[in-house]
Amino acid sequence: MFTTSDKTKVILLITFALLLSCSFTTNSSQAQESHSLGQWPQVSKRLWGEVNKQPIWLFQLTNINGMKVRVTNFGAYVQAIEVPDKNGIFNDIILGYDSAQQYVNDCCYNGATVGRFANRIKHGRYSFDEQTYQLTTNNGGINKINHNHGGLIGFNKKRWQVSRVDKALVFTYTSADGEQGYPGKLAVQAKFELSNNNEFIITYSATTTKPTPVNIIPHLYFNLNGDGQGNIEDHQLQINANYITEAEPYLTATGKLLPVKDTPFDFTQMKALGRDIKTIHPQLKLAGGQDKQYGGYDHNWVLANYDGKMRQQAVLFEKITGRKLTISTTQPGLQIYSGNFMNGTVKGKKGKLMANRSGVAIEPQHFPDSPNHSHFPNTILLPEQTYLEVNKFHFSVQY
Ligand code: BGC
Repeated sequence: MFTTSDKTKVILLITFALLLSCSFTTNSSQAQESHSLGQWPQVSKRLWGEVNKQPIWLFQLTNINGMKVRVTNFGAYVQAIEVPDKNGIFNDIILGYDSAQQYVNDCCYNGATVGRFANRIKHGRYSFDEQTYQLTTNNGGINKINHNHGGLIGFNKKRWQVSRVDKALVFTYTSADGEQGYPGKLAVQAKFELSNNNEFIITYSATTTKPTPVNIIPHLYFNLNGDGQGNIEDHQLQINANYITEAEPYLTATGKLLPVKDTPFDFTQMKALGRDIKTIHPQLKLAGGQDKQYGGYDHNWVLANYDGKMRQQAVLFEKITGRKLTISTTQPGLQIYSGNFMNGTVKGKKGKLMANRSGVAIEPQHFPDSPNHSHFPNTILLPEQTYLEVNKFHFSVQY
């Protein structure tokens, strides 16, 4: 027989035990959560080759959903992005190569970090503070009259230092004063992050010792069917932009903004990339490439509501796989290059030749030739400032 005080003891014991078990449950689930938060993305690295007797690494970030991103410290190239389609099948959806050596020989900035100034600077020349600067020229017809993508040896040809590898990959590169003609020593950082929400985030920051033009961008070519799986003309694209910067021969900028309304450049509503690409239009024709009669897209869209803050600005969608890419950026412009110059002569991943329009480069950026157009958003970085641009590539599926 239990006495009243025994009963009280039992009740107290049970209550204590219950409380204890509750607190364990809470603690263990918290522990698991913080464990998994600390664990993802998983990062691995492997030795991938050597450049000038210095090791080149290939890093892989894997998130909780199995999405993978691979980045190398040669040229800070993004080598692969593996995402699921609507049936859960994973494919690598960017163009690129299988070996470090192929990146050393890369023709087309396939996944590159482009700098110091991406896109063209007319005749490689600009003036600032009553001084004229001459940069190397590497683009624009047989005489290569313009500076493009950082010049003869851009950031994509450099071996970057690996400075942090935990939840983010952080690479650094110091561009010397005078490199490719640019004034000022520029200390650059590229940060690559992968969230558990399938967002790949690339952040560039930089500081300089002298005023210098800076436009550092990711140059990723997408094919949402998977690398090597046909062309991108059926991909649907939407861009928040009512204007493009008018291009002139060799794709520098006249300084004028052209309204996209009633032109093949209108992507304000989702439409297939290929729908109007074969329209006779002087701007399309300027882009040249394989299809000389029509040209293609190789232009800068002026993103709406630019204020330097992160904004969702474009969506790329592919119906059959259901893969959808949403691009947000702090940048004012978006270059869309429809792979016009790809002619099936360059070997990409798995030895496949990169056929015409086998990928679309979507490049968040400042406007082409900005240092020569004072009404374009400023690209001159001063010594007392810090350059900071963030680009977010969010992958999802839509049925
Ligand atoms: C340019 C194209 C060029 C491609 C590869 C793009 O950003 O706008 O004209 O062919 O990069 O270099």
